[in-house]
Formats: sequence, C-alpha cells, structure tokens
Amino acid sequence: MTLRNRPDRWGGVSQLLHWLVVALILTTGTLGLVMGDMRNSPTKIELYALHKSLGLTILALATLRLLWRLYAGAPRPVPGPRWQDRLASLTHWLLYGLLFAIPLSGWTFNSAAGYPLQWFKLFNLPALVKRDADLRQLAGNVHELLFWTLAGLAMLHAAAALYHHFLQRDDTLARMLPRGWLRHRTPTPFIQD
Ligand code: HEM
Ligand code: HEM
Repeated sequence: MTLRNRPDRWGGVSQLLHWLVVALILTTGTLGLVMGDMRNSPTKIELYALHKSLGLTILALATLRLLWRLYAGAPRPVPGPRWQDRLASLTHWLLYGLLFAIPLSGWTFNSAAGYPLQWFKLFNLPALVKRDADLRQLAGNVHELLFWTLAGLAMLHAAAALYHHFLQRDDTLARMLPRGWLRHRTPTPFIQD
C-alpha cells in the first residue's frame, strides 16, 4: 500500500485518518447525545470524560490530517461535471472546518462552565476562556448546532460517495479504500446476437 496520495487514489495515511475520524465521530456524537439524558452517577461522569477525551483526539487527528493533506495533496478529481468537483471540494473543506469547530466549541463550553479537562486521565489541558455563564450557554448551543450540521453534511457526503459507486459506477469510493476492497463495476456492454 502506498502511504502518499497518488494522482489516481488516496494513499494509506489519508485513508486511515479518514476512516478513523469517521468511527470516532460516530462514537463521540452518540456518547454526546446519550450522556446528557443520564441520571447523575459515576458512570455519567466517566462518559463525559470519555466524550471529551475522544473529542480532543478528533481535534488532534484533524490537525494531523489537514497538515498531511496540505503536504501530500489530493488525487485528481474523478472525471465528471465541473459543478460536482466544486461541490465536493466545498463539502470537504466545510467538513474539515467542522472537525475543528466542534471540538473547540466543546472545549470553550467546558472552560466557560469551569469544568476541568483531561485527556484519558493522562494529562490536564488548560481552560480556553474564563468562567462565564453567558458564554457557556452560547458555546453549548453552538456545539450542538455544529454537531447537527456535521451530521447532515456527512450524510449528504456519504450519499454522494454511494451514488458515485453504485450509479455512476466510478472509482470515487474505491480509491478511498485499500486496493482490492471494492472493485468498481464497469457497465456491461449490450451484446446483440
Ligand atoms: C468532534 C468531536 C465532538 C462531537 C462530535 C461532540 C458531540 C456532542 C454532542 C452531540 C453533544 C450533545 C449535545 C446536546 O444534545 O446538548 C455534546 C455535548 C457536550 N460536549 Fe461534545 N462533541 C465533541 C467534542 C467535544 C470536546 C472536545 C469537548 C470538551 C473538551 C466536548 C464537551 C461536551 C460537553 C461538556 C457536552 C455537554 C453539554 C451540555 O451539558 O449541555 N465535546 N457533544
Ligand atoms: C463523519 C463523517 C465523515 C467526515 C467528517 C468525512 C470527511 C471527509 C473529508 C474532509 C474528505 C476530503 C479528503 C481530503 O481532502 O483530505 C473526505 C473524502 C471522502 N469521503 Fe468522507 N467523511 C465522512 C464520512 C464518509 C462516509 C460515511 C463515506 C462513504 C460512504 C465517505 C467517503 C468519502 C470518499 C469516497 C472520499 C474521497 C472523495 C474524493 O476522492 O473526491 N466519507 N471525507
């Protein structure tokens, strides 16, 4: 497997970071939605701490990913209409923006609420802002709103990938997966006897 991106496919590093972040977003988002409705208990506190540690991990991976993307570039767009390339690029950059904005709004909420912040009980992280009730309210709302924006955009993005694979029958999805995992199906020519 090539680590660097090539003109015709994403390399191993971009693929690994893409799918790892997808899995982490699913876990962290689900935890976020579940933990708020729980009764106060030690488990609830543990889940909040886990949510924050996973969220900070996403922030670190998003940084790594962006740096790698700037260094290693991207494959050439799969041939298709120009508007599709433009829309795909816009979606990708919006997704990148959200991968930063969501953890940072969560961190701001946590700081404004005056809660401590640790990464997997290994080390403490500083507060981003001073304790502030209004900011806490605002950052909490922004955190939730941005999460739902990501959920909507990621669904459209995944639907587009599936559309390319099953209807357009091109390599868009196959080239974001290890070689050989998906074979794109070229249309069978119509043969008349
Ligand atoms: C990409 C990463 C993250 C995702 C997808 C995410 C998602 C969510 C979701 C869906 C909720 C529930 C919102 C609601 O229904 O009110 C939530 C709540 C929360 N998140 Fe995150 N979060 C992330 C990162 C973080 C980080 C890094 C922190 C802190 C450093 C954090 C702190 C919190 C806190 C404290 C709450 C509870 C808010 C409240 O009590 O109103 N989150 N998050
Ligand atoms: C939380 C969910 C997701 C996020 C945040 C996300 C984010 C991204 C980003 C930022 C890129 C651009 C890559 C780059 O420029 O480095 C990308 C590409 C891609 N994603 Fe996702 N993605 C998500 C879920 C999915 C899912 C579920 C699928 C498949 C069903 C998928 C399929 C793809 C494909 C095929 C590409 C490459 C597109 C191309 O070559 O033009 N993604 N994704």
